[in-house]
Amino acid sequence: MALLSILHYPDPRLKKVAKPVSVVDERVRTLVRDMAETMYDAPGVGLAATQVDVHEQIIVIDISEAHDDLRVFINPEIIEASAELKEAEEGCLSVPGIYDSVERPDRIRVKALNKFGEPFELEADGLLAVCIQHEMDHLRGRVFVDYLSQLKQSRIKGKMRKLERESA
Ligand code: NI
Repeated sequence: MALLSILHYPDPRLKKVAKPVSVVDERVRTLVRDMAETMYDAPGVGLAATQVDVHEQIIVIDISEAHDDLRVFINPEIIEASAELKEAEEGCLSVPGIYDSVERPDRIRVKALNKFGEPFELEADGLLAVCIQHEMDHLRGRVFVDYLSQLKQSRIKGKMRKLERESA
């Protein structure tokens, strides 16, 4: 197991589009374990492979209080989304300390492969639906900040640069 380093916004590598995983093998399962360990250590409720500079369609999520309900989605696809939208506050391990509201479909149905390469479908609402959509955005090179106004985006970029300078 290993802790992976997380890219910080506005790193251009966060804009890369992830490729589908062709074979779910030991290499992928090791990456999933490392991503889960990195997410729990941060701590966060979700992590996409893009955030650890691996551009493959893999996400891990655990929204449980006890951190004992790890969900793995490989090659996830949203197959249904409710017309009804809901606004929720989001944060991101790649944009530390920033939280803002984003509006997304309230309920979704997603299909994906599990860590054994077996297909499954899941219906989600609430926090889980928000997390899945947020992490799937990372796989196509989008960060939640991209939904905010230009003014907010430039403020956030400024804050992130200041943080980088302070930690350098
Ligand atoms: Ni994120």
